[in-house]
Amino acid sequence: MRILSGIQPSGKLHIGNYFGMMRPALELAQKGEAFYFIADYHALTSISNPDELRANVLDVALDFLACGLDPDRTVFYRQSDVPQVTELTWILANVTPLPMLENAHSYKDKIAQGLRPNTGLFTYPVLMAADILIVQGERVPVGRDQKQHVEMTRDIAGAFNRQFGEVFTIPESDIRPDVATLPGIDGRKMSKSYNNTIEIFGDEKAARKKVMSVVTDSQPVEAPKTDLDKNIPLQLYKVVATPDKARELQAKLAAGGFGYGDAKKELLTTLMDYFAPFRKKREELVKNLDYVHETLRKGAERANAVANETMERVRKAVGLR
Ligand code: ADP
Ligand code: TRP
Repeated sequence: MRILSGIQPSGKLHIGNYFGMMRPALELAQKGEAFYFIADYHALTSISNPDELRANVLDVALDFLACGLDPDRTVFYRQSDVPQVTELTWILANVTPLPMLENAHSYKDKIAQGLRPNTGLFTYPVLMAADILIVQGERVPVGRDQKQHVEMTRDIAGAFNRQFGEVFTIPESDIRPDVATLPGIDGRKMSKSYNNTIEIFGDEKAARKKVMSVVTDSQPVEAPKTDLDKNIPLQLYKVVATPDKARELQAKLAAGGFGYGDAKKELLTTLMDYFAPFRKKREELVKNLDYVHETLRKGAERANAVANETMERVRKAVGLR
């Protein structure tokens, strides 16, 4: 089984990225041939400062390796090291209906946030389809917000195959329902663009500030808490704590005499403990950047070999050879 996923280097990675995409991706990598990449072409839709983009790419590489990506098992690369994806994007654009792109939720959301759209943002899903199809990805581990993009990829691949013959494998998204949309500190989806994240590699002081400001209702400390299925500190605690510990915290809140402030303190400690080994690994990696660059170089070589194979078939199928 071939597995593929990408993450944009558009800011500091957060625990929504980790539980929604990175952890499932790392688990899946044990079961097949995984291709994970840093989507720097995609990040051009939101970043216009070259130094910032370069720094973010290195950050994501460090973060993913620190979180346990094994570059011997997984092909780990930077998207722009496989420029064939842009050629494939152009070819796929010619079998992509315009209304499909006009209906993309993420495009519509970004416009609603006031972003001035350029054609890069508009054709983003076609580039994403090219990422997946160029390695013939079968499974795509992502959070729920990316589901529609993977569906578009399926449609684009189907349209291509009908027109030019069976070239592409049709991929499927792999979404974990329990962590598909982790809430941020304000209760909306945790997202870099909402400034409501808890970073994976932030220091304790920054994490405390974020955790202590997680929104809750206003039931007093003494009250036996109700509506716990909507409680954000508890939802966040559930992803970092063991099931037993999560039940314990829920019971303490339900019993009364235990306030949201107490719950947040437990959340903070558990969160810091959960990511402590990753932080340690990252500190070691930072001292060995040559290893990180060499890892991406080797990944690019392996990804290029697969991409070239696909592109030979694609060019032949459409008549460019
Ligand atoms: P952001 O919204 O912070 O910019 P990205 O769009 O870069 O995040 O997402 C990278 C990956 O992490 C995607 O697979 C996405 O679905 C997943 N992801 C992002 N935020 C969350 C979240 N709050 N819950 C679950 N998964 C998420
Ligand atoms: N669009 C994805 C995001 O914002 C990142 C991405 C780019 C991706 N290409 C991909 C994810 C291919 C999965 C497969 O999170």
